[in-house]
Amino acid sequence: MSERFRELVATPRVAPSILSADFAKLGSQVEEVMAAGARVIHVDIMDGHFVPPITIGPLVAGAIADLVHDAGGAIDVHMMIETPERQIEEFAKAGADSITFHAEATPHANRTLSAIRELGCAAAIAINPGTPVEALSELRGLADVVLCMTVNPGWGGQSFIPSSPDKVERLRQVVGDAVIEVDGGIDVGTAGSVAAAGASLFVAGSAVFGADDPAVAYQAIASAAGAS
Ligand code: DX5
Ligand code: ZN
Repeated sequence: MSERFRELVATPRVAPSILSADFAKLGSQVEEVMAAGARVIHVDIMDGHFVPPITIGPLVAGAIADLVHDAGGAIDVHMMIETPERQIEEFAKAGADSITFHAEATPHANRTLSAIRELGCAAAIAINPGTPVEALSELRGLADVVLCMTVNPGWGGQSFIPSSPDKVERLRQVVGDAVIEVDGGIDVGTAGSVAAAGASLFVAGSAVFGADDPAVAYQAIASAAGAS
């Protein structure tokens, strides 16, 4: 996997999601959270098919990649798209350090995880709230990161699904030593419960960029998650 990403996720991290940032000043918003300590920047890709909204693609990921890398950070791409195997090369070229696709979006999870690693990126697979942890049982050892959605994918600002900590605990039994990432409804009130269950990478969008002061909000969530 990307050496940069491996080092960063060796300890618990909060990854601000730019989905909730002000895109008219994206660069300065990213700089603001990185100055507060953030090193993993989460980039949500939606295609209007796998999930209803359309967001951004490799062009925007690439636009912030140098800024993030120069500050010692990593780009964590989360693809909520159909046929994700067709897009991984473009995101790797754009500067992604980690690439996540959804188990529900392709019959080719094994091949896609290997292809992501071959491109030099951390390979990550996500599961929706309705997908059982056993969906990943044949992929042990192939994924560097498994992402457990703690809301239904598609929108920022939704409420954390309360059964998520229990699911994260069960996921740990299935995925061995892969990093467990959680995404959706993570804030100062919810981060601790998924941290205790075994997650160590915590995506937070609206709780960071929707706050009056994203830097202060980032630090409060990191502290609640036991992250740096
Ligand atoms: C939702 C995205 C998330 C989103 C989380 O489908 O994958 O990364 O930004 O937003 P919050 O933290 O507001 O739930
Ligand atoms: Zn996401």
